[in-house]
Amino acid sequence: MSDFIPPYPIRHKEPLSPLKTLQYARRDLLSIWSEKSFRLQFMGTKIINRSVFIANCPQVVKHVFVTKHDIYERKSPQMRKALKPLLGDGLFISDGATWKKHRKLETPLFTAEHVAQYSKVMVEVAEEYVQKWAKLPSGTSINVLTEMGTLTAEIICRALFGNHLGATQAAEVISSFAEYQAAIEQMDFGTFFGLPSWMPGLQWRRAKKAATRIHVIVDNVIAAGIKSSNEASLLAHLLRLRGGAKDELTVKQIRNELIVLFMAGHETTANTLSWAWYLISQVPEVEQKMHTEIETVLASEPAKFDHYANLTYTRAIIDETLRLYPPVPILSREASQDDIIRKRPIPKGSIMLVVPWLLHRHELFWEQPNNFTPERFLPDAPVKPDKFVYVPFSAGPRVCIAKFFGSVESALCLAVLARNFRLTLPAGTKVTHDCRLTLRPKDNLPMQIVPR
Ligand code: HEM
Repeated sequence: MSDFIPPYPIRHKEPLSPLKTLQYARRDLLSIWSEKSFRLQFMGTKIINRSVFIANCPQVVKHVFVTKHDIYERKSPQMRKALKPLLGDGLFISDGATWKKHRKLETPLFTAEHVAQYSKVMVEVAEEYVQKWAKLPSGTSINVLTEMGTLTAEIICRALFGNHLGATQAAEVISSFAEYQAAIEQMDFGTFFGLPSWMPGLQWRRAKKAATRIHVIVDNVIAAGIKSSNEASLLAHLLRLRGGAKDELTVKQIRNELIVLFMAGHETTANTLSWAWYLISQVPEVEQKMHTEIETVLASEPAKFDHYANLTYTRAIIDETLRLYPPVPILSREASQDDIIRKRPIPKGSIMLVVPWLLHRHELFWEQPNNFTPERFLPDAPVKPDKFVYVPFSAGPRVCIAKFFGSVESALCLAVLARNFRLTLPAGTKVTHDCRLTLRPKDNLPMQIVPR
């Protein structure tokens, strides 16, 4: 076991009052928890007339995500409100019959066979970054989060649109997304607790303008795609669900789904890769084991999908990174009916939270929960993580549709880049987090490139 404990925010001795919780939450969602939150199994409180519960053990998480999925299928009202101008009825925020139908139609697009196709794009883009970094003198400082953000945005753009999105349009989509997200992040963090959200009118206008720019570009790409294309892009697959007797999706729905996939599919992997670079750089034995594995598995071949299965230690590093820094650290739902959990009534309209940040560091379910120990995810580890305690991709019917895509992308990109470079943290750099809709390293994580 490594004895490296990466930084995490202080934990309060006693639980905060609801008012204090809101004050802290406004600045940082990871700073609201008390020591007890990492030991208790089910918690409830009332914040301004809204009942809020936290499912904090495998039995209750299973109840919420699987057994009573129908009751807790719906995202919190504020999450839906914040994302609707951009995503419309897209998968991420829809529920009921629309969600069921779209989920069923899109699930086949993420089978291992399809991910093997998309993996070519993953490796192609990662190799382009190898070329780009190779031009930099050794010791050059780069912003790791920014680099990983553009890398994964490029991958998802090519996987979604094939060759139909030119470089200028891709840059416009990426920057409009960043603008939309910056605007909605101005929302009060009460969002997660289901309180009425506050967002200045100016930010709404900014968000809506950014959404319109994205809609126009994606609509044009779809129009071009309709005329040509029998290729393997996600756009082409979605277009095949259109027309003919079945006519499963309208053009507008296809646009919404493409935008969902873009939104959900790049920042999560960018954050994962960035945290992984930081963690590896702090433990030389882990870095060394990973290099040895990459050299053995890839040898001198170009990386490919088949290598993924054999990158056992690299995958364990990614799994452990997702445990310590889950990109989506809080999952929130609204109860659509009354329920009872552990003899406590859960009134309809309550907010139910599943918090990977707590579950992944819970004292009852992990040994040395705050240590960075990739070995716990190796196939021969003595204890297997419970699938309702380790939930970086959520669980149950609403689990991340692209869980395998994201895992393959993270491991292959890390392998391709780490085969050629180490990233080192300048002495004295203090790494900390920024927790908004996703959990990322603060200040873009400057590190230095060293060729291997
Ligand atoms: C390491 C990478 C990733 C992580 C950690 C991750 C995590 C998650 C989580 C936790 C959820 C559930 C959110 C909730 O219930 O509130 C989710 C949903 C989703 N993710 Fe991912 N994701 C990753 C990569 C991706 C990628 C690459 C794509 C697309 C190509 C994607 C597409 C989606 C979609 C469409 C949903 C909504 C599914 C539904 O509601 O039915 N994700 N993801």
